[in-house]
Amino acid sequence: MVKGRMAFLAVVIFSFFLTALSFAAEEGAVKATGAVPGEAIEMQMISFNLMIQEAVSGVIAGDAKSVLQAVEPALGNMDKVHAALKSGAKLKKNAGKMKDFDSLDKKFQAKLVALRDAAKKKDQKGMLKGTAGVIEACANCHQKFK
Ligand code: HEC
Repeated sequence: MVKGRMAFLAVVIFSFFLTALSFAAEEGAVKATGAVPGEAIEMQMISFNLMIQEAVSGVIAGDAKSVLQAVEPALGNMDKVHAALKSGAKLKKNAGKMKDFDSLDKKFQAKLVALRDAAKKKDQKGMLKGTAGVIEACANCHQKFK
């Protein structure tokens, strides 16, 4: 009888401990990104989606200024995804393959920089190529992680 009660108590205490731990992780992610961990990545992605749509519209219109306005603020934003991942957010697919994630992210960043530079130079051909490169980098990461 007593043994059973002790075991029950241990389970209660342990699950309380686990809950406290996961709350702590979530709180860290909230601080880092202003969102709960699961949502932090999605929110950033939605903003990337708007960014690339604006960039495409700008390139089609030959409007380098609006391309620059769309792309420039997005340059450091993957940092928010990394902060969320550090604070307890989990990727839904291939969560263990962080090296691949980082490498796809680096390629993505490089393409964004190329598009930004082309927009700065009002280089229409470069913007076309840069936009295609960014879209490809989005899709490459999604193939493995989304
Ligand atoms: C390095 C990886 C990576 C790159 C680069 C990346 N994404 Fe994502 N994206 C993800 C992951 C992972 C998810 C799934 C989110 C999750 O697991 O909760 C996602 C989800 C999304 C979603 C769905 C969000 C939702 O509502 O659930 C959109 C839209 C999106 N990405 C747009 C983009 C666009 C546009 C780009 C490029 C400009 C981009 N992403 C670049 C990893 C990436």
